[in-house]
Amino acid sequence: KKIVVLMGGPGAEREVSIASGKAVLKALQDLGCQAEGLEVTDFTVEQLPEGTELVYNLIHGTFGEDGQLQALLDSHGIAYTGAGAESSRIAFDKNLAKEKFLAAGVPTPRSETIKLSPGLLPELTIKAPLVIKPPREGSSVGVQIVRDQAEVPGALLKAAEVYDEVLIENFIEGKELTVGIVNDQAMPIVHIAPKGGGSYDMANKYPWLSGAAGSDYYCPADLDEATTLAVQEAALAAHRSLSIEAYSRVDVLLDSENRPWVLEANTIPGMTATSLLPKSAAAGGIPFPALCQTIAEISLQ
Ligand code: DAL
Ligand code: MG
Repeated sequence: KKIVVLMGGPGAEREVSIASGKAVLKALQDLGCQAEGLEVTDFTVEQLPEGTELVYNLIHGTFGEDGQLQALLDSHGIAYTGAGAESSRIAFDKNLAKEKFLAAGVPTPRSETIKLSPGLLPELTIKAPLVIKPPREGSSVGVQIVRDQAEVPGALLKAAEVYDEVLIENFIEGKELTVGIVNDQAMPIVHIAPKGGGSYDMANKYPWLSGAAGSDYYCPADLDEATTLAVQEAALAAHRSLSIEAYSRVDVLLDSENRPWVLEANTIPGMTATSLLPKSAAAGGIPFPALCQTIAEISLQ
């Protein structure tokens, strides 16, 4: 099969996408697959090489992960990896995804959606500690954790400079976990511990971009069996509630009473050397090259 690894894109996660794309391209080529890379900003189908049989989509965030690219490829009958247009659109929108989680009984932190205008302060029903998130972003772009109620107005005004809508979420103090889902199976849990003790923000996610100390990763996470099963079950239920095809990576917080809270399911999770889905899959017996190949195979079924 002639595979085109698509990377880059117009969004805030462009650099991360290029890193994912290069890693997957190398793995596919090492396996002897007929694969080539295509770095794009604004993509049109005409840019695909003649005879492309599968678009291996590694464009994180805007356009690549939110259903737009998927709808475009669908309309041309071109196969691609990962979730379809509708499940991508819902998974990428934290408002829509949370509705699905709640309807399916998947535990997710209490939240509200707030419209913003520059210079105006909206009333919130959720009190600090809270998290302010743009509803349609990835890699923690635009995320603010606000621990002190006195800092809420300043944080909202800052968000209003960039976003016209934000999700306000109850902050859960606890362990940061993530679970790879491949072929409708939950892989071992990764526990993420930022080295500086801070949050797993963009700097700690991508130390090779930011120069930050980065994070320690424990996989399988050191959790008792009942907790492990509860986290994996919540992650798989979240993945299924969004009808995601092929694979995803579900982010979960574990509170001090060992209760899991699902934050989101990522349909184009990072695939760099330090990325989490590859760690989770490797611990589950699927090394990186096999993971790249498996994703292509299940997407072609
Ligand atoms: N949004 C980044 C790429 C991730 O979920 O891994
Ligand atoms: Mg995300």
